[in-house]
Amino acid sequence: EKLSYSEAIQRASSSICRFPLIPVRGIPLMNHIANNWDSIWAFRPDPSDLLIATYPKAGTTWTQEIVDLLLHNGDAEACKRAPTPARSPFLEIFSPSPIPSGLDLMKDMDPPRIIKTHLPFQLVPPGFWENKCKTIYVARNAKDNMVSYYFFDCMNLTQPEPGPWEGYMPKFMHGELSWGSWYDHVKGYWKEREKKNILYLFYEDMKENPRREVERIMRYLDLSLSDEVISRIVDLSSFEKMKENPMANYSCIPGLVFDHSISSFMRKGEVGDWTNHFTPEQSKIFDEDYEKQMKEVDIPFRSLI
Ligand code: A3P
Repeated sequence: EKLSYSEAIQRASSSICRFPLIPVRGIPLMNHIANNWDSIWAFRPDPSDLLIATYPKAGTTWTQEIVDLLLHNGDAEACKRAPTPARSPFLEIFSPSPIPSGLDLMKDMDPPRIIKTHLPFQLVPPGFWENKCKTIYVARNAKDNMVSYYFFDCMNLTQPEPGPWEGYMPKFMHGELSWGSWYDHVKGYWKEREKKNILYLFYEDMKENPRREVERIMRYLDLSLSDEVISRIVDLSSFEKMKENPMANYSCIPGLVFDHSISSFMRKGEVGDWTNHFTPEQSKIFDEDYEKQMKEVDIPFRSLI
């Protein structure tokens, strides 16, 4: 039975629940991902496909929008042809998630496809590396990333129950959230970035100078667009424009699933929001643990204080 995108979403929403996590090679993943692991691992991308990899809430949707705009020469209407998850398949998502199954979508899509994943490096299907697919990784400062994830877990009623804010930080630090440890995630891609030709970006750099980062992505994709088109892409992918764009702001997902009254998907889009949520005591505990978990790598995260 072939359902339209909106029919599939409506059907999935009627039986919505917070999916339990099941470990796959030690990484906690939602049960519909774990249950379909073999077909995810076996996925063979086309060599022209592009992978956008992130820990959840690091700026995935923003990067998907930028890349789609770059591939469409800044054509706003072309990039409003469908909501983000229908334009840019989410690799590991399966029914009964209300986000359409990435593998299903890709059957009807011609390469190059902009494929999204939150899988940590070691769980990315090996076909991506065998086919030398271009990969953009976006990392976001740990504290802001955690705050954003907390609000997302509150509003996305398919994610595991976040519980109270005070109890969320230990889960983040111990890698107990969906898709596992932030620390292992950012380190895993960092260590492989040269061997695998991964473009490793930072959310904070994108905020500081979006044009510079859009141009960096453009060069990585071997594109050369006019200054005017680049300016348009920077404008169309701004937080304000994307928040108002129904094809980029996740308003496509029914309120039963993404409850935007609890927290908007396009929530704040700022750097340093963690200072509004961490107590000084929490911040101290977090920083001490961070030092330990990050000591073997020198990833140039900005200090946000
Ligand atoms: P906040 O919750 O801090 O607002 P993802 O797409 O990986 O799920 O990440 C979502 C986070 O990126 C949210 O962060 C969201 O507001 C922010 N975001 C989305 N589009 C953005 C844009 N164009 N500019 C800046 N931040 C953006």
